[in-house]
Amino acid sequence: MSIWRIKPVSAFEADMKKSELKRVLGKWSLTAIGIGAIIGGGIFVLTGTGAYFHAGPALALSFVIAGIACVFAALCYSEFASMIPVEGSAYAYAYGTIGEMFAWIIGWGLVLEYAMGSMTVAVSWSGYFNKFLGLFHLHLPDYLTQDPGSYSGSGFSMNLPATIIVLLVTALLVKGTKEAAKANNVIVIIKIAAVLFVIIVGAFCINTANWVPFIPDETTIMDHGESRLVYGWNGIISGAAAIFFAYVGFDAVSTQAGEAINPKKDVPFAIITSLMVCTALYILVSLVLTGMMNYKDFNPMGQYPNAIKAPVAMAFEIAGMPWAVFIVTIAATVGLISVLMVMMLGQSRIFLGMSKDGLIPKFFSELHPVNKTPYKNTMFLGVIIALVAGFTPISTLADMTSFGTLFAFTMVCIAVWLLRVKQPNLQRNFKVPALPVIAVCGILINTYLMIKLDKNAQLFSFAWLGLGLIIYFVYSKRHSNLEKKGIE
Ligand code: ALA
Repeated sequence: MSIWRIKPVSAFEADMKKSELKRVLGKWSLTAIGIGAIIGGGIFVLTGTGAYFHAGPALALSFVIAGIACVFAALCYSEFASMIPVEGSAYAYAYGTIGEMFAWIIGWGLVLEYAMGSMTVAVSWSGYFNKFLGLFHLHLPDYLTQDPGSYSGSGFSMNLPATIIVLLVTALLVKGTKEAAKANNVIVIIKIAAVLFVIIVGAFCINTANWVPFIPDETTIMDHGESRLVYGWNGIISGAAAIFFAYVGFDAVSTQAGEAINPKKDVPFAIITSLMVCTALYILVSLVLTGMMNYKDFNPMGQYPNAIKAPVAMAFEIAGMPWAVFIVTIAATVGLISVLMVMMLGQSRIFLGMSKDGLIPKFFSELHPVNKTPYKNTMFLGVIIALVAGFTPISTLADMTSFGTLFAFTMVCIAVWLLRVKQPNLQRNFKVPALPVIAVCGILINTYLMIKLDKNAQLFSFAWLGLGLIIYFVYSKRHSNLEKKGIE
């Protein structure tokens, strides 16, 4: 049946040779792209929720578990990237192994990760930007910072900063990948410096009594009038799902394979290095934070109601270092720009890959005559993302981004194993060690985290995938290049 037809690895290689994208990214720029996408609002925002509503001081273990889930997936991504170094990421890997329909569904699911991720990141950037202005006692009127769904006044309103930042990033991405990568390199240095600052300065404010007991006994607490089971090992695992968003992004490196100078070697290196660096930083931040503030102090109904929304900033405020709040706010404001940039870059390259294969219109693969960027696709995405971020209440949908990511991770773990069985002799510059153990562990842990996500996010995500399936049968299957070549 044609839904199972597979694009041969040789066809990917032929596509690669024909590609007109400029190969401008070296190994450290690729690594910076990974770090640029990973470190964002997640670590500065979700740690409070993770500590109070899930794991207590053992939040660091939640970060270890989510990090392990990512490492399994990262190894599988790396094997693929060393073999099929094209821009489509998980979509392309599935097309080369599982079959066209699954590849399509994965590509469609990646829209949740990249496009929806970009929208949520743009909205949180707007929040930080307003805080940043507030540091200088400047305030934008509410009708210019809130979407019409969230605005309590009457008349026109929009989230103007969110719209503007998306349009600016779009312009940079159209200009060129090299320019975007240069801007990203600078931002990554600022971000790493800020996170190291939090760790080093925060370490001096730790009260080790806050770490006792490190894993609080399982208990129930009230959340929006409902009782909720928290802490213990269950809490550590649900905490891993809750903070997973903070890890989203390293796989974006694989969408840049078409622009890498030496993709088969450097993309695997960048995926693994960026993930390792961020995992280490995240574990240290969560240890420092839960040492600075007692996990119970993140209770939104308690003494510090804002601590859950801005845990890192609050910890420094309580420690009597308001200037540190200044640094964290600036780092988050600048840092989120690179998350947005890499997410949008990733989405446009996935669409580029799908369009080259005929599954979405050719419009998405037309390159700019001079810059050689997929400019129409990037501008189309930029306008949609800017409009949604400016006019809809999207900010609560981070869990859908995590869903799309975990779904792709699971599929890549399945696909890597499948291809090893089907084509063991293909040349692989990087090989996942101990396969199938690593792949099976990756499948189990990523699926488990997906199940632990917010139920509404799961429902909406499945609805999105269902819509994708309809589009596949109505449009993509018939327009596929493989269909035109008569491949079943
Ligand atoms: N990992 C990115 C963040 O935390 C998406 O903002």
